[in-house]
Amino acid sequence: MPHCLAKELRLPPLPFVSGKYEFVFEAQKEGDETQSLILVRFEEHEFFLRKRYRQKQNDYILKCEKGSKNLPTGIIKGALRVIASYNEDMLITHNLNNDSLKQTLLSPFLKQIHHFSDFHRPFELEIGFGSGRHLLNKARQNPSMFFIGIEIHTPSIEQVLRQIEIQGIENVWIINFDARVFLELLPSSLCQAIYIHFPVPWEKKPHRRVWSERFLHEAMRILDQDGKLELRSDDEGYFLYALEIVLRQKHLQCKINKNLQKEVVSKYEDRWLRQHKDIYDLQVIAMEKKTEKKHNKAFIFPAKVFLRSFDKIPKKVIKTDWFLHIDSFYTSSDFSVLMVSFGDFNQPQSKFLLIPNQGEPRYLGGNPLPTEATHKAHQELLRMIQKGEEIECSD
Ligand SMILES: C[S@@+](CC[C@H](N)C(=O)[O-])C[C@H]1O[C@@H](n2cnc3c(N)ncnc32)[C@H](O)[C@@H]1O
Repeated sequence: MPHCLAKELRLPPLPFVSGKYEFVFEAQKEGDETQSLILVRFEEHEFFLRKRYRQKQNDYILKCEKGSKNLPTGIIKGALRVIASYNEDMLITHNLNNDSLKQTLLSPFLKQIHHFSDFHRPFELEIGFGSGRHLLNKARQNPSMFFIGIEIHTPSIEQVLRQIEIQGIENVWIINFDARVFLELLPSSLCQAIYIHFPVPWEKKPHRRVWSERFLHEAMRILDQDGKLELRSDDEGYFLYALEIVLRQKHLQCKINKNLQKEVVSKYEDRWLRQHKDIYDLQVIAMEKKTEKKHNKAFIFPAKVFLRSFDKIPKKVIKTDWFLHIDSFYTSSDFSVLMVSFGDFNQPQSKFLLIPNQGEPRYLGGNPLPTEATHKAHQELLRMIQKGEEIECSD
């Protein structure tokens, strides 16, 4: 994680511009004068740097706020370097050198969620592609088909993006996202196949598994008729867990195989084959076309929010299928900032809500994912933070 440590971290008067970076405001954390957030803009990106005074060490640490970790590291390092350059005499240490152009440039094949909002082309999807060996092979061998690869491990994503460029592959989109959330955002009946090869079994934390009842429902919804969901695993326990979920459904068709040989194998499969491990294969076939599901996805704000004082805002609302947690509150002369997490329990989203003294509030970096759970939490958030509202909340 790029950061710098300094005896003192002073900023020029805000807002100020340095190269392509604009430093907009610094907001102080309510009830904790050791922490503040600095809003930075770089081209179409907006993110927070967090500045924190560490009492024990008597120094300041500056790094990118967690919620902005999807940004290329080169952009974050660039912003930190600007602030470091104003505090050169005070710097203790930093890791801001040696970024390559790759860290700064966004690949045209790396997509964001909004690229999928109007997506209508048939595709195959690979979840947790790791080294990308299976995904890229498939894409190379089937140039007329379109592939989407989803992964949460940034080094794997960077490696696969490099390979896409080197091999001149054009029919793949990559997205850095949690598959458990992503499927809900895809249209119905367009996907031809979903591959989930050697997922992490998460024996001790089963809630982190990609495969669940809800995942299966979403997978069957996005698959076209006769499309298949293909799980391959060397872990018998995970395979049986996945199969049990499938068998609980009323109306599904599935096939199981053991040590089925495949033409294209992933890096993990190759490793297990060399160790003569058994490979379990489960294919679930979508039996019908599904109609598009509809729900209200708008995140609407009133033109002006009359904010209660932070101590009067309830901090938590928990319902059966969604929650809202107001984590902290920051203020500058022109903005209030609320750090919230909300949505589904297994797939919480963290967001900053920027509330200007003048003008409409908005979420930093764009609206949250338009899931039903987040939408309900958003409406509750508005109700809770505004003055003069009745509140009903449960712990
Ligand atoms: C054991 S590796 C297998 C990689 C590859 N499929 C193979 O067979 O070589 C599992 C991969 O799934 C990714 N992963 C885990 N949870 C995920 C999630 N919720 N969404 C997307 N990818 C995930 C991990 O980062 C990791 O790269």
